[in-house]
Amino acid sequence: MSRPRVLVTREVFQETLDYLARYFDVTPNQADTPMSPVALAQALADKEGALTTLSERVDAALLAQCPKLKAVCNIAVGFNNIDLKACTERGVLATNTPGVLDASTADFTLALILATARRVTESEAWLRAGQWSGWKLKQFLGTDVHHATLGILGMGRIGQAVARRARGFDMTVLYHNTRRLSAEVEKSCHAAYVSMDELLARADILTLHMPYSPATHHIIGAKELARMKSTAILINAARGGVVDDAALVEALKRGTLAAAGLDVFENEPTLNPEFLKLKNVVLTPHIASSTEATRRKMALTAAENLVAALTTGKPPNLLNPTF
Ligand code: DGY
Repeated sequence: MSRPRVLVTREVFQETLDYLARYFDVTPNQADTPMSPVALAQALADKEGALTTLSERVDAALLAQCPKLKAVCNIAVGFNNIDLKACTERGVLATNTPGVLDASTADFTLALILATARRVTESEAWLRAGQWSGWKLKQFLGTDVHHATLGILGMGRIGQAVARRARGFDMTVLYHNTRRLSAEVEKSCHAAYVSMDELLARADILTLHMPYSPATHHIIGAKELARMKSTAILINAARGGVVDDAALVEALKRGTLAAAGLDVFENEPTLNPEFLKLKNVVLTPHIASSTEATRRKMALTAAENLVAALTTGKPPNLLNPTF
């Protein structure tokens, strides 16, 4: 009997391919050549499964060209590249990788907070450019992170992991979420629930931890930025599109917001060019979960989902609501 055929859309670790090869005929893409929608449709036309990343769009148009496809397993917790409704309508199982990247993403959020508040990248670039002539009392004055009020918008696993880390900096933690957490979880995170308005008004540092969806599109826009303190810092390691980047650029330019630390952007990898001109932003290329150990776990978790999807029909991290 022939083995199911699967496509791995981007470069992965060899161990991921070795694991998949125990079950499937695998078509890898270790050259990491980006696939256009046409190339992706061609590569998937005869495949039962796909290991995808957030750079491939899986929508109704693609699925219509892939009649054999039964499972799409994303190497990411976010899955806004996948049209879940279209997958469900076509009987295609879709999965993500929740849990395995929470700690690394929360660590990186703290890195962005510290780098932004203490002007780490700005001062380093200045030093590398040969500008340092000696110590000065008022050199690169930053903002204290310790004892600051941290606002967390989106209090799922990653938001909670950030809250727990904030305790080490003696921060006051406020949060807002679609659902209020239980008293027990609030206590373990040392976090107080407040309204969105109060969160925006009180946060010295506001960090975002929600998935991207039509409901969270531009959840931070001009109106929300205007409610924040002019001394505040915005951190986004969640998804591009939850912030209105053009409105953020305006607030940073006008000084109505002090600074921002951004790992994700609208229209990645193309950035709003104005960000590159601003000194009060720290910019990183969507690497919050990128540690060796975590990226290995993400790829393997996605591969395990694919094996389960095509062998039992019950992958552990199934996203389709009605299966
Ligand atoms: C995720 O898992 O959604 C991350 O953004 C991928 O880097």
